[in-house]
Amino acid sequence: MLVNSKKMLMEARENYQVVYHFNINNLEWAKIILEKCNSMNTPVILGASLGAIKYMGGFNVVASLVNSLVNDLDIHIPVCLHLDHGDSFDSCKKAIDAGFTSVMIDASKLSLEENIKETKKVVDYAHLKNVTVEAELGHVGGIEDNVASNILVADYDECIRFVNETGIDSFTPAIGTVHGIYKGEVNIQYDLIKKLRDNIDVPLVMHGGSGLSHDILRKSIKCGISKINVNSDIQYVWMEAVKQFINNNPNVYDPRKIIYSGKDAMEKFIEDKINILNDNK
Ligand code: 13P
Repeated sequence: MLVNSKKMLMEARENYQVVYHFNINNLEWAKIILEKCNSMNTPVILGASLGAIKYMGGFNVVASLVNSLVNDLDIHIPVCLHLDHGDSFDSCKKAIDAGFTSVMIDASKLSLEENIKETKKVVDYAHLKNVTVEAELGHVGGIEDNVASNILVADYDECIRFVNETGIDSFTPAIGTVHGIYKGEVNIQYDLIKKLRDNIDVPLVMHGGSGLSHDILRKSIKCGISKINVNSDIQYVWMEAVKQFINNNPNVYDPRKIIYSGKDAMEKFIEDKINILNDNK
């Protein structure tokens, strides 16, 4: 059974640990991540972006797929299915109605007032259905913004107001990360993370978890990050492995063999990420 993210993230927050959010793109991605996390006895959040949901066929397909995998593969760890970067009340509602157990409303491009209003609307609906809500403030950019001077950092006072007025369950402040591959030096705002961890009582989320060293991830967790989102890095390790497989096996045309040839690399990547938690004392 799928669960919302409340318990797993609050436990991570209490213990200065982290829950990973790995993005899924297809059946194989979901299966490989679930089986690996299950074998390591580690709760996981499967994130599906609107693009990935459209690619896979729709909200119902994704919810049924993940639910069925959890049942058929006898997955015993807590698994949360999360809408990544929902862009409106409507997209969040569709995810909730289809059976997602958590949603992110990303209204971070709006003004603070508008962001609060849109986020609160999602929270009111989601909480009626026992679904948790994550929201963002200070916009975490993408590759196009990936120049140090363009990276936004959230304002502390606005963060406090945003969390208090919206009633969200987890919070993504812009802390110096970006989505995708980093071009320059990474400048994480550790002091802001610490101050927020000590002054708000919901778990803090780091978006843009790819391309960061294990030291940076460990330090962020120590300062109070409870959820780390990772997408691009897994895509990259999968792509490298598949490229090599195709080069070495030019006559193989079975798509199952080709797509699955990235499995070991993905598993190794996930294992390494989870293992950094063990020496985060
Ligand atoms: P990366 O692609 O940089 O890992 O970011 C993923 C993410 O934040 C998804 O919300």
